[in-house]
Amino acid sequence: MRAGGRAPGPPLPRRIMKNADFEGMVETSDEWIAQRTGIRQRHIAADDETTASLGEAAARAALDSAGLTPADIDLIVLATSTPNNTFPATAVDIQNRLGMHHGFAFDMQAVCSGFVYAVTTADLYIRGGLAKRVLVIGAETFSRILDWSDRSTCVLFGDGAGALVLEADEGTGGIADRGVLAMSLRSDGVHKDKLFVDGGPSTTGTVGHLRMEGREVFKHAVGMITDVIEATFSQAGITAADLDWFVPHQANKRIIDASAKKLGIAEQKVVVTVDLHGNTSAASVPLALSVAVADGRIKKGDLVLLEAMGGGFTWGAVLVRW
Ligand code: ACO
Repeated sequence: MRAGGRAPGPPLPRRIMKNADFEGMVETSDEWIAQRTGIRQRHIAADDETTASLGEAAARAALDSAGLTPADIDLIVLATSTPNNTFPATAVDIQNRLGMHHGFAFDMQAVCSGFVYAVTTADLYIRGGLAKRVLVIGAETFSRILDWSDRSTCVLFGDGAGALVLEADEGTGGIADRGVLAMSLRSDGVHKDKLFVDGGPSTTGTVGHLRMEGREVFKHAVGMITDVIEATFSQAGITAADLDWFVPHQANKRIIDASAKKLGIAEQKVVVTVDLHGNTSAASVPLALSVAVADGRIKKGDLVLLEAMGGGFTWGAVLVRW
């Protein structure tokens, strides 16, 4: 496994929006947002920044960090719910931007769990022998699907991208191997109306806006997250004490803290970037990862747990040896 985003950190949209910037737009306050979510600022894409351009920048950073070029990659999996177009897949746009005309590329849509689903998928393509090196990207421009007059959602999300390269490597099949060691994915569409976008090609013919029953999502989040992590631990035969780092989906600091506490994961092992990026959906886990790799916290050989939960609901966890 080769990580992206070496110093000076992950490429992010140029524009930063602080909590106070919302105060003249909707009835809210820096204090409410910070206390309820832990968010202090988020990056918002400019007109010339798109999911494809952010994804391309993250891909280039990951390739540089791994000492690779696009010629070395044979599959791109892009996790996104905010593609540049309904089709073709934004992954093929990024493939073209990278000057890559071999291999194959596709998008994965699992909302905030997208990156965890994408890493799992990439790992299975490698294990199945269909790819040797996979560029896994999470890239989003949620600012384009927010209802900027809805204070209960517009303050929560941000734009960004992160990426890493997964590479085939012979292992012993044990916990000491590098790469993806265990994984657990779940979804349950009974919850589809709790967090959704009220538009789409086959219904309204429009893009639509994000709608969320925040309290309902919150209520389910900690239980779902801890269940799927416990399943991953038992698959790998480890406990929370064996972990070096926990890199959770960055939606809300209170959800992160409650999940870590319930699982018995020490606070100093939890990577938190929600204060800087807000919820960047499928980009949140790779962004947090690249920050912790760039600042030297996550090192080669560390045992790292990735986790996400989002619209659908979808949820999942992946255990990796860095
Ligand atoms: N500023 C001020 N007040 C607000 C704001 C705001 N920005 N937003 C909501 N409020 C008000 C509400 O209207 C409500 O007022 P009322 O009591 O008069 O009705 C009050 O604050 C409390 O609202 P709650 O929704 O109960 O607040 P809560 O403490 O639950 O926090 C939040 C809301 C932050 C949305 C929380 O529920 C949450 O984080 N939910 C989960 C989000 C999440 O994890 N999403 C996951 C994935 S996202 C994806 O997949 C795309």
